[in-house]
Amino acid sequence: MSNVKRVLVTGVTSGVGKALARQLKDRGYYVIACCRNAEQEAELKSQNLCDTVVFVDLGIVETAQSVPKQLSDQGIDALDGFLHCAAISIANPLETVALDTMRHGFEVNVFGFFALMQGLIPALRKAKGRMVITGSVAGFSVWPMLGVYGATKHAVEALVDGMRRELWPWGITVALVRPGGIKTRMLERHVVEMKGRLAALDGIDKQNYGKLYVSYTQAMIEGFEKANPPEVIATVVLKAFEDAKPKAAYGAGADSMVLRLIDLLLPDNAMDWVTRKVFPV
Ligand SMILES: NC(=O)c1ccc[n+]([C@@H]2O[C@H](COP(=O)([O-])OP(=O)(O)OC[C@H]3O[C@@H](n4cnc5c(N)ncnc54)[C@H](OP(=O)(O)O)[C@@H]3O)[C@@H](O)[C@H]2O)c1
Repeated sequence: MSNVKRVLVTGVTSGVGKALARQLKDRGYYVIACCRNAEQEAELKSQNLCDTVVFVDLGIVETAQSVPKQLSDQGIDALDGFLHCAAISIANPLETVALDTMRHGFEVNVFGFFALMQGLIPALRKAKGRMVITGSVAGFSVWPMLGVYGATKHAVEALVDGMRRELWPWGITVALVRPGGIKTRMLERHVVEMKGRLAALDGIDKQNYGKLYVSYTQAMIEGFEKANPPEVIATVVLKAFEDAKPKAAYGAGADSMVLRLIDLLLPDNAMDWVTRKVFPV
């Protein structure tokens, strides 16, 4: 196994992570999949999506911190790659989002991710490995309803910048991938959830945010149909991992590139005007 490159991948049970694990296995990598339980482990192995697993629930930080020990128990002390695809989405008007919902979003998308990344640095240092972290267009441009999700993705962008600028002395490279919409379980569940919440909307929420729920849900339904296949985004993650000289950040999907360009070119008040047109309230 000494010449085979070892990569640890999160989010392998669905969407981008699953498509990525398939591509990595096809290319001969030794894939260490993060999953939550033995049932998922059996499923991943039966689909030949990994060589081994470690158990992590990103919402429980201690499980993320236990990964170095889980790896060393398997005789793995050096890693060529950490490819992070796991996250959850959260959508609420900021006025009404429960603090516990916000906290859970940060536990999974930021603290769990950070604890995992932090613990893997010694193993990445040994192999001069690379991190590729999946962010989102919400990491630079936040739509109505997506303030909390966008805050977690902004935090991820900041941590990636920090890691990239601190870890270069050891040859550890760090790249960010910013996808646009992806046709995965995340978006599918999101559409179902938003339709349900829209139907049940009542009282002051309906009065203040009813129109936003309608326009946002409609945008998500239309967006799902046009969204990028997960394989397209996984290919960009793989490229970011394999590029001889990786960029600090990669757009993934045409929508991501266009949004990035618009965001860089338009002043904030023009972006606000566009947002009001797309999401009338
Ligand atoms: N879908 C989009 O439109 C979109 C757009 C922009 C950016 N992104 C980003 O792209 C990445 C991949 O998203 P996706 O669309 O592929 O999502 P997905 O299909 O919903 O897959 C999410 C993955 O994250 C894992 N995960 C969720 N909560 C976890 C937890 N607490 N602990 C461990 N693993 C957990 C899931 O595992 P379980 O099966 O165990 O739940 C699953 O494997 C994410 O970073 C997402 O924010 C997505």
